[in-house]
Amino acid sequence: MTAKKVLVSGIKPTGDLHLGNYFGAMAPMVKLASEIPESYIFIADLHALTSVQNREVLQKGILEVAAGYIAAGLDPKQTILFKQSDVPSHAELAWIFDCITTVPYLMRAHAFKDAEAKNQEINVGVFNYPMLMAADILMYDAHIVPVGSDQKQHVEYARDTAQKFNRIFGEALIIPEAHITGGVGTVPGIDGRKMSKSYKNIIPLFAGDEDIKRITMSIVTDSKGAEEPKDPESCNVFAIQKLVSTESELADLSQKYKEGSISYKDSKEILVEKLIKFITPMREKYNNLITDKTALLNILKENGEKARVKAETKMNVVRELVGIKLY
Ligand code: ADP
Ligand code: TRP
Repeated sequence: MTAKKVLVSGIKPTGDLHLGNYFGAMAPMVKLASEIPESYIFIADLHALTSVQNREVLQKGILEVAAGYIAAGLDPKQTILFKQSDVPSHAELAWIFDCITTVPYLMRAHAFKDAEAKNQEINVGVFNYPMLMAADILMYDAHIVPVGSDQKQHVEYARDTAQKFNRIFGEALIIPEAHITGGVGTVPGIDGRKMSKSYKNIIPLFAGDEDIKRITMSIVTDSKGAEEPKDPESCNVFAIQKLVSTESELADLSQKYKEGSISYKDSKEILVEKLIKFITPMREKYNNLITDKTALLNILKENGEKARVKAETKMNVVRELVGIKLY
């Protein structure tokens, strides 16, 4: 067992990264990972198979998330960024956990209950998703698992599973703690609802200048005229300004809203400039990684190798304890 701190987290490679993802999850996770001596962040491609069953879509998603996190500041020399499926023993450990877990216990998982409530056809992967996730976490002796609040229950499953394993086979697994990456709270989309790819109200994290302009100018506001006093706190443009402005810029803008000396159009134009400035360096880094994939693939390969070494050490202890290791 390790004395120093270990961080582990997984990201599903499903879909377009947006400002909400960045401020709510990516930036806080990247920062935390840079502060912890040993950190593993992996692209949860095996988990994604529960919902993505299309080769091109999955491959594209994996590369976009890997490039996206590096562009957002993750340093792959310091944080082990790898692809889950490059360490096949995640699935082996998940199977061992399946064998000490009961069906009624897994039936209490929120994700399973939600799928059941929606009358969806539920595949077995969705059902034992929490056991694969427990394997991801427990494999690396994680102490800290940064996740969104919707994943807190899954970390509880990992904790319970570690305790159960230790009780049945002997002390081998560390009990992890969830670290909720609240970040800045909920980032609103251009229609004021939570920014989410499923609402089609996103500002893509690596949008081009023209898209930034078009999308920002279409942010929904009320119909107050330029000279009418406005409430910054109920304005969607202002809410996004908060993410990319300094305190003094915000104070100044807030004052203008309240005294009715700025139109929504002008406020949007200021935001366009801020967003372009904020997004451009990340987008350049992202585009470089996505256009010439060699460097990106090498990072994943090399880091997958490092993760596999640590995982194999753990699996040898686990195999020994459960009784399947004879030589
Ligand atoms: P989406 O809603 O677009 O499908 P995901 O569910 O893939 O986003 O979110 C991935 C991570 O990003 C989660 O940890 C989630 O908490 C965070 N996140 C997503 N949208 C927002 C938002 N609008 N504000 C804050 N955090 C968000
Ligand atoms: N289930 C997580 C999600 O949907 C992704 C994930 C898979 C994960 N394995 C993990 C997160 C292990 C933290 C630790 O967002």
